[in-house]
This record gives sequence, C-alpha cells and structure tokens, in this order.
Amino acid sequence: MIDIQTIRAQFPVLDQQVYGKPLVYLDNAATTQKPLCVIERERDYYLHENCNIHRGVHYLSQMATEAYEHARQTVARFINAKEVHEIVFTRGTTESLNLLATSLGRMIATDASLLGGTTKQSTCRLKVLVTAMEHHSNLVPWQQMVQLYGGELLVAPMDDNGVLDLQAYEELLKQCPKIVALAHVSNTLATINPIKEMIRLAHQYGALAVVDGAQSIAHMPIDVQDLDCDFFVFSGHKMYAPMGIGGLYGKTEWLEKMPPYQFGGEMVDTVSFEKTTFNKLPFKFEAGTPNVGAALGLETAIHFIESLDRSEVEKHEDALVAATIEGLSKVEGMRFIGQAPERSGLVSFIIDGIHPYDLGTIIDKMGVAVRTGHHCAEPVMTRFGIPGTVRASFAVYNTLEEVDVLVKAVTRAAMMLR
Ligand code: ALA
Repeated sequence: MIDIQTIRAQFPVLDQQVYGKPLVYLDNAATTQKPLCVIERERDYYLHENCNIHRGVHYLSQMATEAYEHARQTVARFINAKEVHEIVFTRGTTESLNLLATSLGRMIATDASLLGGTTKQSTCRLKVLVTAMEHHSNLVPWQQMVQLYGGELLVAPMDDNGVLDLQAYEELLKQCPKIVALAHVSNTLATINPIKEMIRLAHQYGALAVVDGAQSIAHMPIDVQDLDCDFFVFSGHKMYAPMGIGGLYGKTEWLEKMPPYQFGGEMVDTVSFEKTTFNKLPFKFEAGTPNVGAALGLETAIHFIESLDRSEVEKHEDALVAATIEGLSKVEGMRFIGQAPERSGLVSFIIDGIHPYDLGTIIDKMGVAVRTGHHCAEPVMTRFGIPGTVRASFAVYNTLEEVDVLVKAVTRAAMMLR
C-alpha cells in the first residue's frame, strides 16, 4: 500500500483553501502539481548552477552542461531508449509534434522514395492517419502538414464507448499513410489504445508510428523499444515536472534523416554565408538556449515517480476512477463520455440539461477544481454531439475522500442547476 498522506506532504500547493473550502485538485490531466523535490531542484539550479550550456569553457558552464546531459540520460533510461541521443528536449508534447510534422513533412516531400506502401511513388500523396480521439496537438500539426503538401488526413473512427475501431484502422492503413499519429491515452475519454498492436500494424503497412504519450507517461511504465514506436512524445508538466520542458524520442535511423526544425545557435556544426552544416544528434534539434532548470526538474520528477511503487500507484488511481464512476452514476441524468474497458486516470461526464461550464463553475466554488469544455479535442465533442464535458482527472496524491467531495459537489450543483 502506498502512503498517500506522506506523498501529499510533498505537495504544499494541495494544502490550501479556495473560497474557504479545502482545495480538491482534480485537473491533473491539464497539469500535475509539483513535489517539493522538483521545485527545490529548479531553485537550486538558479541559486548555484545557472549558466548557458554546451558553449562555455568555465566551471559553471561545464557543470550545467553535465547536469543537463545527465538529465537526458535519465529520460532515456526512464523510457528505455536504446541511445541517449534519441532523446530531444523540447517545450513539451505540442512542440515535439510540431517538430515532427514540420521535419517529417519536409523529409518526405524532398525524398519521394520514403513514400512507402504499394502505391506508385510518383502518384502517392502524403497521407497521415490519426485517430478520432486525438488532442488538437496531435491533429492540427498533421492536418496543416498534409494541406501544405497536397496530402490527406485519414481518421480512424471509434465507437460510442470511445473504443477505437481496430478493423477500420487497418482498412485505412491499406491506403498507404506514411505516418500514423496515435494517442496512447485519450485526454478526454480516458481510453488506453492498444498501442503496441497499432504500431505493429502501422509497420506492417509501411507507416512510421508516432505515439502521443502526454496522458500515459505519468500513469504507466513506458518502454519505447518494446513498443517499437518510431517516435514517442511527452510533456514534463503532466508528470510532476516543471512547465516548459518535455521530450521527443525518435529512432536514430529517422532522426538522422530528418532535417532540423529550428535554426540558430547550438544546432550547427559549421556556418558560412554560403552554407551551414548541422550538429550531430540530438543537438541538431535543439536550437537556442534550452530550459536547463526545467530539464533538471524533469530528472527529479522521474526520480520521484521511480521512488513510488508504480503498480500500487496504478491500483490507487484505478480505485479513484472506479469510486468516481460509482458515486457519479447515482446523479440523475448522468452520462459518462468514454467507457472503454481499458482506461486510465480520468472520468469525463455530462449531465442532461446542464452545461458543463455551469457545473464546473459551481463546484469550483465548493473547492473542487476540474476542467470543463472540449479539452482541446473538439472533434471528440462533435462525434458525441455535445458541447463539452466535465473532466475529473487524477494523480497519485488524490484520495477517496476527495472523490467523495467531488460526488457531493456534483450532486448538489446538479440540484441547484435544475
Ligand atoms: N492537454 C491538456 C488537457 O487535456 C491541457 O487538459
């Protein structure tokens, strides 16, 4: 059993009142709170180590460079990347996906031989396959990319429970997309997709597999070699690390072939007015001064996660989800959005005749912080014919007592709004 109270003590932000009520923070899919060790690591960096990296001969610069590269090693180990240079630090999931869409788009557009499948290369359009449950971050960059190159976005459908239609997915793969971009866990529906099987199928049909791990990495162990994905992206701030840091894992084979995303200092090897050659991996993709303090915070967040028994954490979070569903299902007019058997970390719902925003605003006054709206997944709302949902999302420090407060608050708010 994990000791939640000891864990909570590491998160001082949780120990406060809002509107005179104890804060019940259930918006962890948007961002998790940060433990003291992470806050202190970043503070320490600015107190004692702050320096630009990879470019100074002096002591502080060398120490900061070493610490930053050590953080990269920790990330590589955490997700079991084969090589440390396969980890590129970014601002987070959104930047990682923009990097991929931009760079892979240019790579494929300039080298038609990379258009795989059975279609003749000269006539094969650049197609990208996503799922119907993607966050805008794993949709809009690909949509813009295919529009730029006269390609096409394919969308794998899901059923009314928010379960992906694997057969339809395979049918779409027969249309020869060059890239599939898949949510590991839906930020709106909680669905855990059968990602390993989807990656295997993508490869079988000659597509590269990109996994959006924003909502999975804090909740389950990730092994990129076992998944065999070509790319895996994630945000630090959803896994107890500071904002402004995240990562892109890519197989060496592809990162080597891809052109840089941004240009400037650090990502170059030689520069003249006529020509520039680029730095080796991963620096080719890290133009400009990186967020060193946040990278060290991310390393500390990984240590924090590793200090917990992850299977116990999963059990605890599953228990919170189960209690939420059980409690809320007694509320009249309750409709859960996303009822996949394989689910993780959150519960999305609406109540007949009540706008999610109104409900969220009222329970906020009772101290309960949830997210309302389309959760940056507007096509999901369109699919279910709703304006949005109320979403309660959990982290390791949440308790069953907090679920109780949520259920009581929702029950009361629903009565007030009727
Ligand atoms: N992507 C984050 C969420 O789902 C912000 O809330």
